[in-house]
Amino acid sequence: MAKSSFSSNGNLKKEPEKAKISKESLREAFMLYSYIKPYRGKFILSLVFIALSAFSTMIFPFLLGKMIDAAAPAAQVQLPQNSMGGEMFGFNLKTVNWSLNTILLLLFLQLSIQTIFSFMRIYLLTEVGEKSLANMRTDLYGKLLSQSMSFFSEQRVGDLSNRISSDLSQIQDAISFTLAEFLRGIFTLIIGLSFIFWISTELALVMLAVVPLIAVVAVFFGVRIKKMARKAQDQLAESGTIVQETFQGISIVKAFTSESYEMKRYTSSIMGVVETAISNARYRGVFVSFMIFSVFGCIAFVMWYGATMISSGQLSAGDLTMFVIFSAFVGGTFAGFADMFSQLQKTLGATQRVRELLRTEGEPVTITDLLVNIQNPILGKVRFEDVAFHYPSRKDVEVLKKITLSVQAGEQIALVGPSGAGKSTIASLLLKFYEPNRGAIYFDEINSKDFGLTELRGQMAFVPQDVVLFGGSIKENIAYGKPNATMVEIIAAAHNANAHEFIDRFPEGYETIVGERGIKLSGGQRQRIAIARAILKDPAILILDEATSSLDSESEQLVQEALENLMKNRTSFVIAHRLSTIRNSNKIVVIDKGSVQEIGTHETLMRNEHGLYRRLVDMQLEWN
Ligand SMILES: Nc1ncnc2c1ncn2[C@@H]1O[C@H](COP(=O)(O)OP(=O)(O)OP(=O)(O)O)[C@@H](O)[C@H]1O
Ligand SMILES: [Mg+2]
Repeated sequence: MAKSSFSSNGNLKKEPEKAKISKESLREAFMLYSYIKPYRGKFILSLVFIALSAFSTMIFPFLLGKMIDAAAPAAQVQLPQNSMGGEMFGFNLKTVNWSLNTILLLLFLQLSIQTIFSFMRIYLLTEVGEKSLANMRTDLYGKLLSQSMSFFSEQRVGDLSNRISSDLSQIQDAISFTLAEFLRGIFTLIIGLSFIFWISTELALVMLAVVPLIAVVAVFFGVRIKKMARKAQDQLAESGTIVQETFQGISIVKAFTSESYEMKRYTSSIMGVVETAISNARYRGVFVSFMIFSVFGCIAFVMWYGATMISSGQLSAGDLTMFVIFSAFVGGTFAGFADMFSQLQKTLGATQRVRELLRTEGEPVTITDLLVNIQNPILGKVRFEDVAFHYPSRKDVEVLKKITLSVQAGEQIALVGPSGAGKSTIASLLLKFYEPNRGAIYFDEINSKDFGLTELRGQMAFVPQDVVLFGGSIKENIAYGKPNATMVEIIAAAHNANAHEFIDRFPEGYETIVGERGIKLSGGQRQRIAIARAILKDPAILILDEATSSLDSESEQLVQEALENLMKNRTSFVIAHRLSTIRNSNKIVVIDKGSVQEIGTHETLMRNEHGLYRRLVDMQLEWN
């Protein structure tokens, strides 16, 4: 890469890869900057403090050198009077003679100022970093929330949370730490080099004779380190995902005693990380050692050269001390750039992924507080016309082949059929989680495409196959679809859902915490909470994916009653496994292998002796 940029002056375009990378990185930087922008006053101020503190640090070796010269004035050189280099502020810094005590005083003065600068830069930069990162986190979370269901079925949840947490931490480190170190390094280099040249141009040139060599090696290793850093980070994310998945499904892991299997899976993933990290470390180690060797070797050589200059009276002992300490600063900064470089590379990797996500188009949902007034309230007539569908992740499998059905407002329609027939998929299409690949769905004879997503979903309630409660109180969980509901409304909904009684039995009643960190509810209880949630929302259309897990007959009856309360006066889609529960539906649709097999009432369908519905009912009767 370095070769071609030397080879010609106007031909840089010949190297698309490099051009692309630099263009890309510029854009990354710009994206980061858009988050810093609101705090740019403080940000710029903190950069000023970084510069000031770097400068103030560099005064320290200068004063130390002066101290040595003050202690041994005999060793001082008499500079030729025509030398102009040292003229500053009206007196010559090179030949100025302060007493030991003055210098000590100056040293403490310098240290005190330094303290303030350092405090300010750390404080300000952290504030800017935290605040801008909080904005980025919120944006990213909002972006994730607004992604379509197909996005979530293609991504692993672990990957997503990993992106949010680790990539953003990396970026945050970059803003509040790496960036500061980098700038400090730059300032230190500029100021240090100026001092070095000011002390003795000859000695400085001797030292810098070796630096370009170091720089070339730095670039070479830097490119390698960048690639490997990205790989290591991806691998670590991968093993993080394993951990997350294992603990999400911990009951399955334990029930199948697959601890050792998971252990092996995790171990091999971790070993991969270690391998990459170690080969990475080999490069980084060689790099850093090389830097240290060359820089310190350089200093030793310069020391020798300087000592020779002292004996010939061209340099004072204090000057050489200054020079060596400055060189150590410069050298240390150089070596530190190696680590910083790989940190910055990692950050670029992280930024790239975060930005990829921020750039994706989410669903057109409106993330505002709940719809207060719905523009086009629907009555609830629903019609599927010749709908075909395949999941975006499995394009070759046509899950729904030809679904045509209709339901009048306020009617109850039951979807039955064997497992995998496509019933839950129909529910997903109703909720506009996905768009049909062919055909259309009409609400009140208006194509579903012409409805706003949020508006449409705002008028539906969904009781899923397996109910998940969010961490929080029972009250909050019921009010999930209507956060401004009053306590009276919530209790009424719980009554109708046959949930009030068991909720009341908890010592804390409606304030009982459920979910991850709270009380675990039984399947039937969770279902009744979900039903209360739906009752409270009072939707025009209700979608009910009945749980396959069989409830005991008492709670089954309670749930059944709750459902009947819920379905009154609204269009209800009921996906039923227990056929006894849907006998009174206005219409029963039998789905098999993605197509409608039969439509009718319980009575008409039972009359068809060879029909699928009759067979399913007979089978369940045999069972019971
Ligand atoms: N997110 C998805 N991505 C790809 N394929 C899917 C997805 N969800 C379901 N499928 C497939 O679509 C088909 C229909 O699934 P669906 O969940 O609609 O069945 P179902 O009728 O609800 O079954 P059950 O009665 O067991 O709940 C199945 O073959 C399933 O493998
Ligand atoms: Mg299903």
